[in-house]
Amino acid sequence: MSSQLSFEINGRTADLPLISGSEGETAIDISKLRSETGTITLDPGYVNTGACTSGITFLNGEKGILRYRGYPIEQLAENSNFLEVSYLLIHGELPNAGELEDFERNITRHTLLHEDLRHIYQAFPKGAHPMAMLSCVVNALSTFYPDFSSTDQKGVDLAIWRLLGKMPTIASWAFKKNIGQPFIYPSNKLNYCANFLSMMFRVPAVDYEPAEEFVKALNVLFILHADHEQNCSTSTVRLVGSSQANLFASIASGIAALWGPLHGGANQAVLEMLMMIHNDGGNVGKFVEMAKDKDSGFRLMGFGHRVYKNFDPRALIIKNYCDQILEKVGLHDPLLEIAKQLEQVALEDDFFKERKLYPNVDFYSGIIYKALGFPVDMFTVLFALGRLPGWIAHWAEMRQSPPKIGRPRQIYTGAIERPFLPLEARG
Ligand code: CMC
Repeated sequence: MSSQLSFEINGRTADLPLISGSEGETAIDISKLRSETGTITLDPGYVNTGACTSGITFLNGEKGILRYRGYPIEQLAENSNFLEVSYLLIHGELPNAGELEDFERNITRHTLLHEDLRHIYQAFPKGAHPMAMLSCVVNALSTFYPDFSSTDQKGVDLAIWRLLGKMPTIASWAFKKNIGQPFIYPSNKLNYCANFLSMMFRVPAVDYEPAEEFVKALNVLFILHADHEQNCSTSTVRLVGSSQANLFASIASGIAALWGPLHGGANQAVLEMLMMIHNDGGNVGKFVEMAKDKDSGFRLMGFGHRVYKNFDPRALIIKNYCDQILEKVGLHDPLLEIAKQLEQVALEDDFFKERKLYPNVDFYSGIIYKALGFPVDMFTVLFALGRLPGWIAHWAEMRQSPPKIGRPRQIYTGAIERPFLPLEARG
């Protein structure tokens, strides 16, 4: 097979190398296309554009495969814990016992926030969306740790531990701010997920011990969200990081990108949609019809995916888990019934079949988060906590590559050159 693609365009010949990945995918390297032919590619939404090569996550949307560093997501969700998976994503290999212990200890040592950071929360209005607070406070970490240098590996490691350690504290304090309860300080006796649950749900007056199954559920959900290759927020982290912006600033921009309802914000939107259907009498058929009507402006949130055109393996795991968790907490949630009916009706409908629209990771996750006691506006924050090691891994991988600022081109479609019009001559 030729490892080069030759073709003629604008009367000039382009000889473009073909690049192959380890799972047999092939890309045309178009980096010299413009210099050789004067032509660029146009791909709005980057539907067909590889922005980088990456050794972190493999996914095959046609076959429903997702692997972190070669390990199937199903096996990681079943056997691993979130910090172990974080280590795997960031360092490339599963840690041995000593490496895991060091990693966990280093992260746990950095769970406290600088006391001055507390005061930032006072400036937010009550009811501020926690994603806005999360992005803002993560960015503010750069002002508390300005010595962080992106060229020094020790400094990078420290920033990574700080970020992983502090994010749960920042996130839970955004929740406490909104409900007017005192901030709960981290407890280094607890593991990562138990500590987060404790900072969320403990009040100083009452003892609180997170239920084991809640800790396990959160671990699994975080693992399922931990990376998803070049999605909108990860690409944002890479793009911002490509200007050599520091890790905190790059992650803060990823959080902002994740917030949108077409991306991570979909988990909040799904639960709001299920509540709307429930309050409307539970007629799922009516909402499926609405989603098919392009003029309605309504989409089935939690359905469809840019890459998965078969099923989302994460959604399958979460769906099975959903039943188990609700049973364990002894909760009957009518929204779960609505979600299942909606899924069935949509999957049998030609509109959804033809477009290969299946439930995605966000379709069932909110029902679990709700059962664990999280308010709806914290759902996307939970996604961000899970995605953090993936963002870090991509930022770090990009740093290891030869420096190249991300800078797409465009096809200009505006006015061609024209002379300046004085004010009195304008209509
Ligand atoms: N409900 C109804 N129709 C839909 C939906 C939906 N959820 N998703 C896609 N379509 C239709 C769309 O109208 C279009 O139809 P047509 O070809 O007739 O114009 C076709 O399917 C393709 O849609 P698209 O918007 O061009 O597809 P995309 O790959 O650009 O968008 C998506 C992917 C996830 C943004 C989209 O499916 C969507 O808006 N889903 C709902 C939001 C959601 O659940 N987002 C979470 C994604 S998974 C978590 C994450 O990784 O962020």
